[in-house]
Amino acid sequence: MSFRIQPSPAARPNRCQLFGPASNTKLFEKMATSDADVINIDLEDSVAPSDKDVARKNAIQAINDIDWGKKTLSVRINGLDSAWWYKDVVDLMEQTNGRLDLIMIPKAGCGEDVYAVDALVSSIEAAKGREKRVGFECIIESAAGICHVEDIAKASPRMEAISLGAADFAASMGMATTGIGGTQEPYYMLHEGQKYWPDPWHWATAKIVAACRTHGVLPVDGPFGDFSDDEGFRAQARRALTLGMVGKWAIHPKQIALANEIFTPSDEAVQEAREILKAMEDAKARGEGATTYKGRLVDIASIKQAEVIVKSAEMIENM
Ligand code: COA
Ligand code: MG
Repeated sequence: MSFRIQPSPAARPNRCQLFGPASNTKLFEKMATSDADVINIDLEDSVAPSDKDVARKNAIQAINDIDWGKKTLSVRINGLDSAWWYKDVVDLMEQTNGRLDLIMIPKAGCGEDVYAVDALVSSIEAAKGREKRVGFECIIESAAGICHVEDIAKASPRMEAISLGAADFAASMGMATTGIGGTQEPYYMLHEGQKYWPDPWHWATAKIVAACRTHGVLPVDGPFGDFSDDEGFRAQARRALTLGMVGKWAIHPKQIALANEIFTPSDEAVQEAREILKAMEDAKARGEGATTYKGRLVDIASIKQAEVIVKSAEMIENM
């Protein structure tokens, strides 16, 4: 047991991150009035190379002019292997008001990627006298990214969240799939003639969660490409939730309600967690460290488990 206390991540809801290409200006107002906790205006892979400059201008105008309410507002810049990222950072930092909350760094491959963006952002913040510190979020979507995820999580005090980007991740890993997240048909176990489908994203998800939790960063599940498959989205989101992630991306507005449904603790889950806390309080009053709740053991670790659910529900209630 380390004497170091696990740091807490940013205390803000991150159940759903809604993406929209910065080249599609008609989406901005719809994104701003949606029920997503986080908005990601995209300059990267949903924007064609010929549209990069106009998309950047659109994003800046949207940040300055649109009422984004209480949403966390993030812009996904281009990758550090591109010719566009430095201008994305410079123009966003020099030409936006203080509304921008986060810069999302895609395809982060090592801690130095974050350091490079941090150096640029820090210098511009100082030069412009920007009072609000812009935070960072990264996408793990390459073999290098998953190998160095802990370095990435701790690379800057600006780091707030890390998402798993299933599509680029699968490509970088050489995985034989074209699906974006979810069950993969050829990834099955066979038992007595029966097939069942394990989760090919499990390892990467758990590794990201561990790195994030060690360094006080929010772990988030990325896109689910088939936006006509609600049950597939729910199943993927439930697995991510169970492994410790706090939310999921939406790449179409119909996925927002699904993400909010899965990542908002249900009334039953909150009630049960509160009952466990009460049972443990009563046990403590009796001088006991463990007791029985609904026929099963609860002990001091159960308090921490129950608190995860109660704290998450309280944060959402108070937003
Ligand atoms: N945010 C807000 N509103 C959106 C939206 C988004 N990302 N995507 C679509 N809508 C709106 C449409 O404008 C339309 O509105 P209307 O009913 O007022 O006309 C409605 O939702 C239904 O849209 P639909 O016709 O089903 O989809 P589409 O064909 O217009 O767009 C996509 C489909 C996938 C191209 C679009 O959803 C999109 O661009 N998604 C984001 C892609 C992205 O950012 N990728 C990067 C991260 S992986
Ligand atoms: Mg990607």
